[in-house]
Amino acid sequence: MEKLRIGLIGVGGISSLHAQGYKDNPTAEMYAVCDINAELLQRRAREWGAQQAYTDYRQLLADPKVDAVEVITPHHLHVGIGVAALEAGKHVSMQKPMAMNVTECDALIEAARRSGKLFRVLENFRYYPPLVRAKELLDSGAIGEPLSIRIKIVQGSMGKGWKVPYSRWAWRFDETKSGGGRIMFDYGSHFFAIAMWLLGEVEKVYSWITYRPIRPELAKRGVSLIRGVDHVVGAAGGGNEEVAAPDEWLIDSPAVAIWKYKNAEKYGTFEVVTSYDIQVPSKYTPEDEWVELTGSRGFIWVTRCTSNLLDRPPVVMYRDGVTTEFSDMETDWGASFIAGLHDFTDGIIRGRQPALTGEEGKVVLQICRAAQLSAKEGREVRPEEIR
Ligand SMILES: NC(=O)c1ccc[n+]([C@@H]2O[C@H](COP(=O)([O-])OP(=O)(O)OC[C@H]3O[C@@H](n4cnc5c(N)ncnc54)[C@H](O)[C@@H]3O)[C@@H](O)[C@H]2O)c1
Repeated sequence: MEKLRIGLIGVGGISSLHAQGYKDNPTAEMYAVCDINAELLQRRAREWGAQQAYTDYRQLLADPKVDAVEVITPHHLHVGIGVAALEAGKHVSMQKPMAMNVTECDALIEAARRSGKLFRVLENFRYYPPLVRAKELLDSGAIGEPLSIRIKIVQGSMGKGWKVPYSRWAWRFDETKSGGGRIMFDYGSHFFAIAMWLLGEVEKVYSWITYRPIRPELAKRGVSLIRGVDHVVGAAGGGNEEVAAPDEWLIDSPAVAIWKYKNAEKYGTFEVVTSYDIQVPSKYTPEDEWVELTGSRGFIWVTRCTSNLLDRPPVVMYRDGVTTEFSDMETDWGASFIAGLHDFTDGIIRGRQPALTGEEGKVVLQICRAAQLSAKEGREVRPEEIR
C-alpha cells in the first residue's frame, strides 16, 4: 500500500518532535514542508528528506500529492490555514490550542464537517505513556472510585544561559498572535485536556492568576534573546542584536485553577509556579509536570512529563497499604508526539477519529478562557459561558 503523504506547515521549534512521528511510521511519510522562513525551510527539508518545500502554505495545499497536513504555526494562523486545508481536501492535525476563540473553533468544526475529512487537535500529553498507564489503572478501578486530580507545573531553568530567537518568544507575548495567556491558555490547554480525559466533563472553574513582567525571570535564567536571525543554536551570527524581554511581556504565573466536574462530587486543581532559581534538567524545555489522582481506595502519581525533575519511577500507585512502582514503559516526552502522530495517520487509514475531536478541542479552549475570566471577575465560570 502506498504511504500517505504528509505536509508540515510551520517548521519551527516543536516541529522537530513532529518529524519523529514519520521516521518509522508504517502508514505515512513526510512529503512536504512549509515555512515563511526560507532558510529554516531549506534546512528542515534537507534534514528530514522532504521532497517539496514551500514558503506559502497555499502552494502546499494546491499540491495534489499531499493527503494530510499538520498545522504547527502561531495560534492566530490556525483557523485560516486549517479551514483552507480542509477545503482543499486535506486531512488536518492541528497543534494545540485549536484556535484563538470559540468562533474560530466553530469555523474549523464546520469546515471539517463540510469536507468529510479527518480533523483532530494534537494533544500530545494524552499519548504520554505514563499518563496512558495511569488512565488504564484508573479505568480498571485500581484505586476505586475516582475522587480528584491535582496537577502541578514547575517552570525553571536549565542552569545555563540560552540564546533564544526573538521570534519564538515575541509572538507568544503578543495577544493578537497567541490569544493571550502563556500559562492559562497556551500551556494550560494541555492540562485541562488531560483533566477532562481522566475524570470527565468540567462543570465550573475558579482561578487566581498573577500577571508579572517575565524580564527579571529571563535575566535570572541567563536567556538572551536574539533579533535578526531565527532558530539560532549556540552563538549568534554576525549582525544579530541581543535584546532584553520588553516590560510589557507578562507571564501569568504563579496561578491556581480549581474546578468541579459535572454531575459528581469530583474536583480538580492545577497550580503553576515559575522560578528560574529552580534548575530543571531537561532534554526539552526546563519545565515539568506531575499528576496525582485520588480514588476511594488509594492514589496514582505520575511523576514526570516534559522532564524528570523528581527522579522517581514514572508511575506509582498506593492501594490497601501497598505501594507499587511501574517503570516498564517509555518515559521520554518525545514518545507522546510519535504515538500521537501515528494515531493520526492510522486514523486516516482506518477511517477512525483520533484524539482530540474538534468538539473536545473547543471545550478545552472554553475551560482555559473560563479560568482567565474567573481570575478577572473573581467568580466561578462555566465553560459554556464562553461563546
Ligand atoms: N505540544 C506541545 O507541547 C507544544 C510545545 C510547543 C509549541 N506547541 C504549539 O506548536 C505551535 C508552534 O509552536 P512553536 O514552538 O513551534 O513555534 P515557533 O515560533 O518555534 O515556530 C512557528 C513556525 O511557524 C512559522 N510560520 C509563521 N507564519 C507562517 C505561515 N504563514 N506559514 C507557514 N509557516 C509560518 C514560523 O516561521 C516558525 O518557523 C503552536 O500552536 C504551539 O502552541 C506545542
